[in-house]
Amino acid sequence: MRFSQREYGGRLTPDDVGREVLLAGWVDAFRDHGGLLFVHLRDRSGMIQVVFSPEQLSGPEFERASALRSEYCIAVTGRVKRRLAGTENPNIETGEIEVEVTELSLLSESDPLPFAVSDKAMVAGGVAAGSEHVAEDLRLQYRYLDLRRTAMRDHLTARHKIFQLVRNFLDARGFLEIETPVLTMSTPEGARDYLVPSRVHPQNFYALPQSPQLFKQLLMCGGMERYFQLARCFRDEDLRPNRQPEFTQLDLEASFIDEEFLYVLIEELTVQMFAIGGIELPRPFPRMAHAEAMDTMGSDRPDLRFGLRFVDVTEVFAQTGYSIFRQVLARGGCIKGINLKGQSEKLSKNVLQNQYAKEIAPAFGAKGMTWMRAEGGALESNIVQYFSEGELAELGERFGVEDGDVLIMVADPSYRVVTTALGHLRLHLAERLGLIPHDRFCPVWITEFPLFEPTEEGGVTSSHHPFTAPDRVDFDPRNIEELLELRSRAYDLVMNGEELGGGSIRISNRELQRKIFMALGLSEEETARKFGFFLRAFDYGPPPHGGLALGMDRIVSMILQTPSIREVIAFPKNRSAACPLTGAPAMVQREQLVELGLLNLGGKEVLPGQAEQADRIDRLSWVSRLGIAVEERPVMESIWTQAEALAQAAQAAAGQEAPIRTVVPVAHRTRPGTEANRSKHAETGQLLKNAPAVKGNYFKVANILE
Ligand code: AMO
Repeated sequence: MRFSQREYGGRLTPDDVGREVLLAGWVDAFRDHGGLLFVHLRDRSGMIQVVFSPEQLSGPEFERASALRSEYCIAVTGRVKRRLAGTENPNIETGEIEVEVTELSLLSESDPLPFAVSDKAMVAGGVAAGSEHVAEDLRLQYRYLDLRRTAMRDHLTARHKIFQLVRNFLDARGFLEIETPVLTMSTPEGARDYLVPSRVHPQNFYALPQSPQLFKQLLMCGGMERYFQLARCFRDEDLRPNRQPEFTQLDLEASFIDEEFLYVLIEELTVQMFAIGGIELPRPFPRMAHAEAMDTMGSDRPDLRFGLRFVDVTEVFAQTGYSIFRQVLARGGCIKGINLKGQSEKLSKNVLQNQYAKEIAPAFGAKGMTWMRAEGGALESNIVQYFSEGELAELGERFGVEDGDVLIMVADPSYRVVTTALGHLRLHLAERLGLIPHDRFCPVWITEFPLFEPTEEGGVTSSHHPFTAPDRVDFDPRNIEELLELRSRAYDLVMNGEELGGGSIRISNRELQRKIFMALGLSEEETARKFGFFLRAFDYGPPPHGGLALGMDRIVSMILQTPSIREVIAFPKNRSAACPLTGAPAMVQREQLVELGLLNLGGKEVLPGQAEQADRIDRLSWVSRLGIAVEERPVMESIWTQAEALAQAAQAAAGQEAPIRTVVPVAHRTRPGTEANRSKHAETGQLLKNAPAVKGNYFKVANILE
């Protein structure tokens, strides 16, 4: 058999009828039909039915075919035939043809499977095995089997195509693909670092990059002008379905450009990427200021597939008699609400009061939630009697209320509480009421982010990262109020409530960069220690530049509409950031820790038990955890010699080659001069009080490990 002649079975068509072909792949499904054996042979291209018959094969060969089982790896030679009328299988692409086998090679066998791999497309209308019934950790543990499933193959194929598109697209526009280091210094993106200890520099650590941010800016200082990288990034943060501890960004940066250059570039690229999944995106993408997104949807990554925009009704209640609202307004708060049009049948008083007002809204951070239902031309609720006619009429007007509508409102002294809680309620209700069209894709650029956010300590922290350019440069870095009013030249690409990417125009002026660090409360010394190498580059003619990074796992997952990004990553970590396949993260040998200088050896330089191996008394001392004083060594030596003599005698008597163990005569070996001293706690049970595990009058000690 010559593999060079091997063809993909899934690519055969009725045009191939009559041809002799060599196919190779896995037994997807197997059916014995009264003397004829039908196998669905799967390879990366798809599936084809191959038929084994006693007429075409010798007796032993047919017997070998009968012994085939799921996932055996085989090669067959045979002739392509049209299937008999009525036996076609519309569930597979090659359903009109089959291959009559004349030769079978069993390439390898398979153990019984931990879960079904086959899509069971053998029988017309057969139920697909699907992955949803298999525990995800089991799928991840046997990922190589999971990857044989059609769905996973399709996901990784699409991912490959999207990545190829990215490379070709950017290459055509003059971007260079450049790799940046993975063993590096900390890069500030707001998550915790994964640290890698250095053997050569004990007690020193590399950090894995949270993004290539600093390096891509240094590449601009290095005159590369247009850079991109499909970069692996590492962030030690809490996991969610759309987050992984290591993930892939399309990271790019360009010099002598402005925001418009990036908007056009990224929109074109995004449109082309989504087209691979058959999704058409309208251009240009709308833009929305951060303030508007917060004001009307309570989120900096708003889902635009549905309405339910907030209406601000603070003014309506300026003179209200309703005490809760009055108190909120007296403390400078606001009141916002949503009109759930025509939803009163689905949202009973009971649901609104007992689920939403009492439980769901508080879980989203609101102290409470007010609801009203429009019926018979009036608004009704448990508190409607506290509002004046005028207030209710004004509400009706602002919300455009009609019978059947439901209003929900959140009031709070804090604008942030109102918008975030109402933002969560908006999403919760849209999902519950089926208002989200799952086949719509609504991209939006979120712009004009605040440059800083307040910290609990009364200072500020960067909303994006400290290299983002502010919208103006004439600010006082010590004036917190002024700092919080600054907007940044940052932008996020958001789609369907998900942040797909983000970036900014950077600071390219050293004075301005220092001012930002000052605003962040970093001392000159701290700045120099953390970013000195980076800032130095800005002393040598840095070009104006900017860039962005797209989360590629999220993009591929959205294009393929998978429930989590784990479905589009070959070997992802599970929900607890572990890899069930390899067992990572795992303990390491003590020796490795010692080598890396990470084990406290109490001033010693090597692991106990290593240097000591040279001397048998030292070694005995270490294994038994007993200190042996210099004057005791001769005694120990003599015991040892006795033991050896006994061992030799035993060996001679038994004629064996080596004794298994030897025992010296039992003797009292308390050190001379040591007085027996019994603790007073021994009688009371107090002695063992803090022992980790007590059994009767004994406490358990750890095994002595070596
Ligand atoms: P940012 O931190 O916004 O920006 O990251 C860019 C995009 O990366 C994706 N992403 C993730 N995907 C999967 N798992 C994660 N844990 C994860 N974290 C982030 C998101 C996000 O929008 N250096 C800047 C970019 C720049 O300024 O050019 C940066 O990393 O889709």
